[in-house]
Amino acid sequence: MPDTKRVTTRTLRQMKASGTPIAMLTAYDYTLARILDQAGVDVLLVGDSASNVMAGHETTLPITLEQMIYHAQCVIRAVRRALVVVDLPFGSYQGNSKEALISAIRIMKETGAHAVKLEGGLAVRPAVERIFEAGIPVMGHLGLTPQRIYQFGTYRVRARSAEEADRLLADAELLERSGCFGLVLEKIPAALTAAVTAAVSIPTIGIGAGVGCDGQVLVTHDMLGLTTDFNPRFVRRFAQLADTIADAVNGYVQGVRERSFPGESESY
Ligand code: KIV
Repeated sequence: MPDTKRVTTRTLRQMKASGTPIAMLTAYDYTLARILDQAGVDVLLVGDSASNVMAGHETTLPITLEQMIYHAQCVIRAVRRALVVVDLPFGSYQGNSKEALISAIRIMKETGAHAVKLEGGLAVRPAVERIFEAGIPVMGHLGLTPQRIYQFGTYRVRARSAEEADRLLADAELLERSGCFGLVLEKIPAALTAAVTAAVSIPTIGIGAGVGCDGQVLVTHDMLGLTTDFNPRFVRRFAQLADTIADAVNGYVQGVRERSFPGESESY
């Protein structure tokens, strides 16, 4: 029988302690969230990648707090087991820690989600502390932080230099001390991921960060092969659903054109 006990931040700590890898995926809508939850994904991230995947923007910057709340409400209705984490979108927490707290409270109150995530290290420390002190579980995100894309100008691997790697490690330790229950590590060298994972007692979840972390996350539409124009080496296509859907739709169009659909058994 599948395990239907709710996943909490405590469960994730226990999974790290027992060496059980954590499976996390993004979700933005009811139908897919339901499938992912029933299939046993431990953490569903209502990621601001919805800006790319759902809305077709080039970056994660345009998505608003209201839009994130809408996506989170859709996801939470579907979920019985997974921990649901919602990204604080660009512009909803960088101003000051009070603004960050207000945004986090809106997400928690209006969606019923279980935690929030924000990007950055030292710069977001006051925000992390204030959200944590309000009793809201908060997750950090280091390495490639897409909300800062215009500052970096590239989606290349981060923290390749010793100086950047030291800063990332220090940020990870600082986020743990500030109250984060977990950390996403995006697009950093695998050896650095392993070092961070050993240095902190909170779970690390990697994306493009090698196998040496406590769990993995991918954008669901990438791993299902629904997105076809984004092919970084860290994405494994566990299915090719764009092809499957195209075949199905071709069959439908053909059925309509030749009047083989609907058949007698599909009519009243
Ligand atoms: O928004 C998102 O999908 C993310 C993942 C890439 C971790 O933050």
